[in-house]
Amino acid sequence: MLLDRVKPLDAILATAERKSLHRSLGWFQLMLFGIGCIIGTGIFVLTAAGAQKAGPGLMLAFVIAGAVCIVAALCYAEIAAMIPVAGSAYTYSYATMGEFLAWTVGWALVLEYAIAASAVSVGWSGFFTGTILQETFGIALPAYLTAGPLALGGAPGGFINLPAMIIALLVTWLLMIGTSESAKVNAVLVMIKLTALTAFLILTLPRIDSANFNPFLPAGIFGGFGTGVGAVGAAATIFFAYVGFDAVSTAAEETKNPQRNVPIGLVGSLIFCTIIYILVAAGAVGTIGGQPIMDALGIPLETGSPELARQCAMPQYAEALVCSNEALAHVLRVIGFGTVGNLLGYGAILALPSVILILLFGQTRIFFVMARDGLLPEKLSEVHPKWKTPYIVTAITGIVVAVAAAFLPVGKLADIANAGTLYAFMMVAIAVMLLRKRDPGRKRAFKVPALIIIGPLTIAGCIFLFFNLPTTAMLVLPIWSAIGFLIYFGYSRRMSHLGQGRVEVHEGEVEDIKPHVPGVDVPKS
Ligand code: ALA
Repeated sequence: MLLDRVKPLDAILATAERKSLHRSLGWFQLMLFGIGCIIGTGIFVLTAAGAQKAGPGLMLAFVIAGAVCIVAALCYAEIAAMIPVAGSAYTYSYATMGEFLAWTVGWALVLEYAIAASAVSVGWSGFFTGTILQETFGIALPAYLTAGPLALGGAPGGFINLPAMIIALLVTWLLMIGTSESAKVNAVLVMIKLTALTAFLILTLPRIDSANFNPFLPAGIFGGFGTGVGAVGAAATIFFAYVGFDAVSTAAEETKNPQRNVPIGLVGSLIFCTIIYILVAAGAVGTIGGQPIMDALGIPLETGSPELARQCAMPQYAEALVCSNEALAHVLRVIGFGTVGNLLGYGAILALPSVILILLFGQTRIFFVMARDGLLPEKLSEVHPKWKTPYIVTAITGIVVAVAAAFLPVGKLADIANAGTLYAFMMVAIAVMLLRKRDPGRKRAFKVPALIIIGPLTIAGCIFLFFNLPTTAMLVLPIWSAIGFLIYFGYSRRMSHLGQGRVEVHEGEVEDIKPHVPGVDVPKS
């Protein structure tokens, strides 16, 4: 039977109990941690791609994507407070739906974490080449060093995005040598991001011209299946701006009074970001306009398509929001606040690497746990004697992330990451509902209110957004899964520790390796 290998929840919980981390985090720290993971390339850069898909309807898109994430966050809160161990959605699925489906979740999480890290690297590169090189030093790097090939949606004359590749490799190296990020550093970076966004709002909101909101929905609400345009198409893309909140669940075990603090931390940080995002979208589109560039049929050109890249290279679109690689800084420059625009750019340059760090970290932890379960070669989880990090898996992940960042545009990467994330979120909602049915008596630190409504809403929301992604991004998930099936049936199923009858309680292994969850201080026990 394919769905038979369910990992006993008691064994998983015993692992958590042995760790017995000191419970030190309150809701405020969790919210800071959440905001640190959430705010990044999505709002600073993808605002341009979102406007190309929906025009001013981008504001509605932020509402739709935020709503799906908030119901998903409630499900995460219940299961994270109940099974507070490493591996997140993969571990939850292993305990409820069995090894095969857990494998598919772990495999899809590669898209969420690794490809999202690539997307943030490309976002960082836009600010580095724009704000630092061009605006500050007047250096224009040749197109072949700043974007991928035109055929992949890069830029005319593009070949490799060198800065994106370098930042991905640099962060990988930092992780390999065991660099983490203290809660203080995270708090400072959150403040930098929030100051940048607040400055943006103060300067743009009073200058909004309501004429820029007309037409509000140039591509409609539904742009059509597979087109990825319209307000819901934009929602499927800017969903990326919320990705990362699930990382808060990794800190559930270190939270005081998780019943109250985990849901406040998860949902609170999301509601906070949703409000800011809607205002930022209003400020961006309302000041310089954000109507999409259309094809001959009046449909927005696909983001990341060679045709859009070609159009954007034309002088008449030099100031268009939808063509900018550093959307928010660009808006400020166009309305005459060049210096503040550059400061915002510096803020993004400082803060985005920490988002890459958290995403890469999440990826290596998932691989580490899968290797520990025998589903991936154990060699991968080897810990470096001096650095105390899973250096092999970190290096492999980092190289893949860097290569993807070098050749693909940010919008495409974000869409692919979203496809994997939506699958994982859906499986978490299913896991929560299954556990309620199968194991109703087990202690739950937090219970989703009205799960009978919230659970199916999460599942429906994830499926809905998935089917509003562009076709190429949708196709990546089944193709990636097919590769995963080959590995599972060719290797993992045979080597699985659970399949071999070994149900292990791991003592400290994941927790002893470095780095600790970035942005959260090492607990004192
Ligand atoms: N939500 C994160 C970002 O927008 C991944 O960069």
